[in-house]
Amino acid sequence: MTTLVPVLAIDGPSGSGKGTVAAKVASALGFRCLDSGALYRILVFQADRKGIELDQTAALVDLAETIEVEFVEGRVLLGGEDVTDAIRSESVGAKASKIAAVAEIRQALLSLQRRCVRPPGLVADGRDMGTIVFPNANLKIYLTASAEERAQRRHKQLIAKGQGGSLRALVEDISARDDRDMNRDTAPLKPADDSIEIDSTQMTIDEVVDCVLHHWQNR
Ligand code: DC
Repeated sequence: MTTLVPVLAIDGPSGSGKGTVAAKVASALGFRCLDSGALYRILVFQADRKGIELDQTAALVDLAETIEVEFVEGRVLLGGEDVTDAIRSESVGAKASKIAAVAEIRQALLSLQRRCVRPPGLVADGRDMGTIVFPNANLKIYLTASAEERAQRRHKQLIAKGQGGSLRALVEDISARDDRDMNRDTAPLKPADDSIEIDSTQMTIDEVVDCVLHHWQNR
């Protein structure tokens, strides 16, 4: 059984390019886009602003139930405020990966994610889009790339922003995040049984986008 409003789920590890690919595929199809990682990041960001510690699960669950997020033209708006750049830091990402291991927090974000399914369709990217959040998605893609390639990509992005950093440290951070995301008890990152795996190590973003659109047309 698939959903009435079409859903295309893209899961994969940090830095696999799924955010960029999801945005481009959504734009090509005229669909909305859900960046589910942004929700975990926003929770960390808001908790920090409100003085909530990351081990205060009940307070984080309450916070998760009140956040108002919109994804508009590649920007992430929290209650109307543009927080796109503020939530993108490595430190927010690492903390997001930690709170994402807590079952109550994942549960609190479920309905918010499912409410994003509206016509004409949704492209959703994350770690558990195809396995937990949208098990009936019309197409499930699992996008990977080697840890070295993902660290290289991140390094280039940081240099472009004028923020160097050691490549070796990035490989270590990415591997630690993979390990946490793949080995947690709740909703671990793994390919859905009915997903199509794309290894983007040797591919450009546009090649990956074309490949996903090809699978969408031939599903
Ligand atoms: O995709 P991202 O790097 O913005 O996600 C940040 C963290 O949030 C990631 O390390 C794991 C977590 N996450 C998750 O557990 N489930 C999702 N669907 C999306 C993100």
